Amino acid sequence: MSIPQLRERMKGWLEGEYKAVAFSIDADPTAYALYREGTEEIYLRQLFVKRGRRRQGIGREAVRILRREIWPSDKRLTVEVLTANEPAVVFWRSVGYADYCLTLEIMPGETGGQARTPDALPRVGNA
Ligand SMILES: CC(C)(COP(=O)(O)OP(=O)(O)OC[C@H]1O[C@@H](n2cnc3c(N)ncnc32)[C@H](O)[C@@H]1OP(=O)(O)O)[C@@H](O)C(=O)NCCC(=O)NCCS
Repeated sequence: MSIPQLRERMKGWLEGEYKAVAFSIDADPTAYALYREGTEEIYLRQLFVKRGRRRQGIGREAVRILRREIWPSDKRLTVEVLTANEPAVVFWRSVGYADYCLTLEIMPGETGGQARTPDALPRVGNA
């Protein structure tokens, strides 16, 4: 997506039910989180750490701040991640999220059965 398209998409989310938190280090915007709070659940739609600042513990610290200072502690926390995004799968597990649901698909034109399970995900049975 182009920058104007991304801006419009973000605007739509923020005008709707989503809230964003921006994290800065020495006034430099470094990361942001976008989430939706329901009566029983907080769904984290996006967590983004600036390229060049990754693997420095910033994502972990952002989740720590959200949980300790911003989110109530009595709600279920959820996040969705593409199985192909292995670094993110490892990240979410490392900050405490546990595997809950796996969406499977057969794309138009595929016969199905192609093994696409990345190493970061568990293989169930003979799959
Ligand atoms: C996923 C993301 C938020 C992680 O942020 P980060 O600041 O780089 O993560 P941290 O440095 O706090 O890493 C915490 C732990 O997560 C795991 N981890 C993070 N990035 C990883 C990677 N690229 N490969 C393997 N493990 C990784 C590690 O266990 C790491 O601990 P360690 O550095 O002590 O080994 C960041 O990579 C990002 O913004 N990615 C693009 C957007 C995205 O995919 N967001 C998630 C889906 S919404």
